Amino acid sequence: MTNKTSEFILNTWYVIAWSDEVNRTLLGRTVAGVPVVLYRRLDGTATAIHGVCPHRFAPLAMGNLIEDRVQCNYHGLEFDCSGKCVKNPQSGGQVVDALHIDAYPLQEKHSLIWIWLGDRDKAQQQDIPDFSHLTDPARRTIKGLSRVNGGHQLMVDNLMDLGHFNYLHKAMAKLSTGFEDVKREVRQEGNTVFNNLLFPGCKPTVLFQSGFEDKDTIVDQFNDIRWDPIGLMRNQVGVTPTGRGREHGINQYGTHIVIPETVDSCHYFYGSSRNYSQDDETVDALFRQWQQRALNDEDKPMIEKIHALQPYLRANGRTPVMLSSDGAAVRVQRIVESMLKLEQEARKDK
Ligand code: FES
Ligand SMILES: [Fe+2]
Repeated sequence: MTNKTSEFILNTWYVIAWSDEVNRTLLGRTVAGVPVVLYRRLDGTATAIHGVCPHRFAPLAMGNLIEDRVQCNYHGLEFDCSGKCVKNPQSGGQVVDALHIDAYPLQEKHSLIWIWLGDRDKAQQQDIPDFSHLTDPARRTIKGLSRVNGGHQLMVDNLMDLGHFNYLHKAMAKLSTGFEDVKREVRQEGNTVFNNLLFPGCKPTVLFQSGFEDKDTIVDQFNDIRWDPIGLMRNQVGVTPTGRGREHGINQYGTHIVIPETVDSCHYFYGSSRNYSQDDETVDALFRQWQQRALNDEDKPMIEKIHALQPYLRANGRTPVMLSSDGAAVRVQRIVESMLKLEQEARKDK
C-alpha cells in the first residue's frame, strides 16, 4: 500500500491518461494524491513509477528517459521500470534499499491507461468497466482532457444530475420540453448506479439535428448514464422518432471519467462517440464546440466557484438541500463513502 493515511480510495482502477498521451517523453500526473511518472518502454509497454525522487524529492517527470530507465535530473539517480534504483552516480555508486520507489500496475484498455494504486493482489483487470465505445469502428470519437480546480465529487454530482442542462447549457442542449415531463429511472446493481432519463415528444437538440432532414421533427430523447466507482461515467444520449425503438434512432456515447488529483482538484477525461454523420467534419466541429463550451466554459467554472465556497460552507455547517432529482447522485455518494470507510478500516488493521 502506497499511503496508509490516504483520504482516497486506492483499491480501484483510476484512469491516469489517454493512451495517446503516453509516449517516449516523461509525463507527470498526480492521481488520488499520488504523484506518478508515465512513459513507454522501448517495446511500447506503458509504464508508471512513483513520480518523486527519494533523494531530495525532485519530480521525476523533469528527468530524462534513457532506454527504459528514468534518470533524475537533479543528481542523476536512475530507476528502472520496476522502480528499482539501478544507478547512483554519487556516493561511490552505493544503492541502499530506501532509494527504490514504487511501480504501479497499468492496463491499457479502450484507448485509456488505467492505474492501480492500492493493494496489488486486489487488482483485477475484469473490474474495469466497459468503455469499448471509445474504440468502436462504427463510431466517431471526439475527446479531450481538462483539469478542474474543484473536488472530484462535485464534478460527479454535476454529471449524475442532468437537470442543469436547460439552464447551464441552454445554448446548445436546451430541450424543447422541460424537465417537468421527464420520465426518470434510478437503479443500482452492486456498486453500479444507473440514472435513465426519457424526454418524450421534443425537438432534436443541436447535437442531433444533423441526423434529421427536418430539424423540427418530433423525437423522444433519452439520456442513460451509468456510474462505476469511483468516477467512471458513461452516458448514452440519443433521439428516436417519437414512439419508435432505439434501433430507429441515432445516439452518442459520452465518456465522463472524473479522477481525483488532490482533494481540491480533479482530472476530467471526456469523449463523445457518435454513430451518425461519422465522416462529417462539421459535426466533429460541433462536438468540439460542445466540449469546449459546455464542459470547459460552463461546467468547469461552476464547479470551481462552488468548490471555492467549501471553507465558508463547512465553517457554517451548511450541507446541500437535496431535490428529488438528486437520487442517483446521493446513491453514488453513499457508495463512495462506504468504500472509503471499509478501505480505511482495513488499512488500520495492517
Ligand atoms: S533529487 Fe533525485 S538524484 Fe537528487
Ligand atoms: Fe454539464
